[in-house]
Amino acid sequence: MPTFKEQVDKTRLPEHVAIIMDGNGRWAKERGYNRIFGHHNGVKSVREVTEAAAEIGIKYLTLYAFSTENWERPQAEVDALMELLIETIEKETPTLNKNNVRLLAIGDLKRLPGKLEDKLQRCIDSTTLNSGLTLVLALSYSARWEIINAVKNIIKDIDLKQLTPEEMSAEIFANYLTTKSIPDPDLLIRTSGELRISNFLLWQLAYSELYFTETHWPEFSKECFYEAICDYQQRERRFGK
Ligand code: FPP
Repeated sequence: MPTFKEQVDKTRLPEHVAIIMDGNGRWAKERGYNRIFGHHNGVKSVREVTEAAAEIGIKYLTLYAFSTENWERPQAEVDALMELLIETIEKETPTLNKNNVRLLAIGDLKRLPGKLEDKLQRCIDSTTLNSGLTLVLALSYSARWEIINAVKNIIKDIDLKQLTPEEMSAEIFANYLTTKSIPDPDLLIRTSGELRISNFLLWQLAYSELYFTETHWPEFSKECFYEAICDYQQRERRFGK
């Protein structure tokens, strides 16, 4: 039986895969541990999937690492997640460089603790010339925040007479989003059984293929990722035509 990796058709890869990494808390609770243990194990899957994407030549991988709504979680969990992100970004920067991976971040980054914003910026700067996979971390991100932010900037530009309402188009609107210069996702994966988009990339997912799996994020392996790609490759995309 060939592996899913062997079954992937490298000539028809999705250019951009986005992932809602869900189920760290449930995975940990099922094993009698606290939620933070789940997040620590979730980092292993982040590493696995980044490697898996780079190995077959995917160009963009976006991971929903922290949503605007996640700020409402208990302070101890928020603090642990921020600490984990700081540690992981610092530790993984050399590996990203070794593997020609460029890091980007989208979201309301000014809300992040100064130390995380700083580490993130250093990692982004140090990987900016890498030309392999682009790894996009969505941090303090929500699509409604992003769209409202875009509308505010559009109103400012209209006030400044740099734009007229008649000129507005889907292309121009997309340039006001944090994902400007990133192609729309071809495939969205959500782990852990929830069948929702949860305020993630609402504009950009308009024509994306959706893939849901029961697997909790800490158990999501390279083969799970390749299985999702194979599933995507069996679909016919018509973009409404
Ligand atoms: C969802 O599980 C996971 C998160 C909100 C955080 C994801 C963070 C990581 C995997 C760690 C750091 C990431 C990077 C990019 C280094 P959940 O807590 O919502 O689980 P539940 O639905 O079972 O409660």
